Amino acid sequence: DTSLPKPVRVRLDVTDPAIIKLRTPESDEAGTRVRVLGRVHRARAQKDVVFITLTDGYGYLQCVLTGDMVKTYDIMTLTLETSMSIHGEMRAVPPKQHAPNDRELHADFFEIIGKAAGDKEAITTRVAPDADPQTLYDNRHLVLRGETSSSVMKVRSATLRAFRKAFEETRMLEVTPPAMVQTQVEGGSTLFGFDYYGENAYLTQSSQLYLETCLPSLGDVYCVCPSFRAEKSLTRRHLSEYTHIEAELDFITFTDLLDHLEDVICRVIDYTLAEPEIAGYIKQLNPDFKPPSRPFRRMKYDDAIQWLIEHEIPNEEGQPHKFGDDIAEAAERRMTDIINQPIFLTHFPANIKAFYMKKAPEDRRVTESVDVLMPGVGEIVGGSMRMDDWDELMAAYKHEGMDPSPYYWYTDQRKYGTSPHGGYGLGLERFLAWLCARYTVRDCSLYPRFTGRCTP
Ligand code: 4AD
Repeated sequence: DTSLPKPVRVRLDVTDPAIIKLRTPESDEAGTRVRVLGRVHRARAQKDVVFITLTDGYGYLQCVLTGDMVKTYDIMTLTLETSMSIHGEMRAVPPKQHAPNDRELHADFFEIIGKAAGDKEAITTRVAPDADPQTLYDNRHLVLRGETSSSVMKVRSATLRAFRKAFEETRMLEVTPPAMVQTQVEGGSTLFGFDYYGENAYLTQSSQLYLETCLPSLGDVYCVCPSFRAEKSLTRRHLSEYTHIEAELDFITFTDLLDHLEDVICRVIDYTLAEPEIAGYIKQLNPDFKPPSRPFRRMKYDDAIQWLIEHEIPNEEGQPHKFGDDIAEAAERRMTDIINQPIFLTHFPANIKAFYMKKAPEDRRVTESVDVLMPGVGEIVGGSMRMDDWDELMAAYKHEGMDPSPYYWYTDQRKYGTSPHGGYGLGLERFLAWLCARYTVRDCSLYPRFTGRCTP
């Protein structure tokens, strides 16, 4: 009908009354005539009316089709995910009925843009909720269209925004270290190696060593980069590629490091929840979520060992824990779940931690190290003070059987104006698994990479 006003194109999340005037049941004043573009998320027919929930990645809008439109072949054979444009008037939802944002579009015209496959090829068949996990991973590109996965991705994006905001406010500078390296950080067993013009190289496990080299010229720094780990075991919290948020701070004490970590984590949660749309997704994904109270519990490794013995949680050999044991994933998670609040687990023995960690001055068996443990997930952060003494670092390479020569650029920091410094790495997918109450970190990655999966 060319006599109708020209429609304005809107995104499906627009609620701004300056743009959208709703026709309400009380007033018969015309609503705004809009044109929306999106894909069919849900559709149901009721007598002579078809309700289509359209989505465009910004939001959802219920569209009501009546009259001749519902008798067309296109609408009678409409399939989910078909892309289309719909024109019509915006109206308030009648009392006692529900629709996203309490609005609906009363269509007067539509156009199909791209039909989605139906029958055996229908999206609901490919990503049926009861499909086996491998099928869902094969169809990750389609799973991402679902409300749950897309909500997690939106929270992920907001969390990254929040981290950057928290870091910028603390006057930390973002840098982007290389992913292709010739040094290891976290032990040789999880290195991904590759041929680099005839030389051995690796995909980085952590950008920490590079961040340390930035301190003298850039001050405190952080990065948000992928890290790679050739993890041999399939667990629900290990990926082969993950987004690593790492930070390094200069001229600090171990207590400063712990205070900073607590501050950043709390700011990030506050900023994320301050976005109403994001708070809504978190509420849906994790209805019981409450921001943790401060201060976080600080617990020494030695006390954790005592706690595990008292609670009869055995080590990996089924024996009571003893000083020097690596606290395995299962035991760590049980402890965190029972304590049910964030824990800063500190002062791990030197023999179970990385070569670069500084020893505690009061007890040289242990390091100034910290793991942050969260209920439901366990470790989400690993950090420490770094050895700042040249001789001690050289001894550490020797002790680990590492050739110091490829690390010359790292060691040099101790030669040219050394300083007490420390930092940490946070696994974004683990943070999200905690925040969004996901069973596995794989659900918090856009396209998860883990043992046996490098596609799609
Ligand atoms: O404890 P990690 O190995 O510590 C480091 O890499 C330090 N160099 C970081 C630093 O001090 N700058 O790893 C840090 C965090 C872990 O706490 C965990 O959240 C995450 O990285 N992480 C993984 N996340 C997913 N999949 C994996 N395979 C992970 N390995 C570590």
